[in-house]
Amino acid sequence: MSFQPVARSSGADPYADLHLALKGLLDGEPDFIANCANFGALVYTMLPDLNWAGCYLLRGNELVLGPFQGKPACVRIAMGRGVCGAAAQTRASVRVDDVHAFADHIACDPASRSELVVPMIKGGTLLGVFDMDSPSPKRFDAADQAGMEAAVALLMNAYQP
Ligand code: SME
Repeated sequence: MSFQPVARSSGADPYADLHLALKGLLDGEPDFIANCANFGALVYTMLPDLNWAGCYLLRGNELVLGPFQGKPACVRIAMGRGVCGAAAQTRASVRVDDVHAFADHIACDPASRSELVVPMIKGGTLLGVFDMDSPSPKRFDAADQAGMEAAVALLMNAYQP
């Protein structure tokens, strides 16, 4: 299987390919950490203009760094703090066009300019969040949010407690 990035200028929907590849990777594999690792690697490989993609997993009442691609990142994020903590607390995706304008943004990599965080919820239980950063302002639009929410739903379908 080869995973190719989809150029934004091509006009093609990168999420159609991403979802297809994801279904193949998750098929028959119940290990959540392994699936999170491949999920982040796939997103980072197939979607252009990212500088970080990965999971923060809920441990007690805080988020702890999970499998990711990109530069080393802060390990622990308190519930409600930063973009990730806001998505975890509200259990809703948070899209930030300009992280400099988000007062509580936690800057792991100063190169990051925009961010999209999607909560990972299975059967009403919050498992963590999936976080994506881009060095470009306004990198993520409503189509990215819908595409990533559908991708996370596939990851949640594969999850077995
Ligand atoms: N910027 C995030 C922290 C995680 S890093 O981007 C990998 C936040 O504000 O929650």
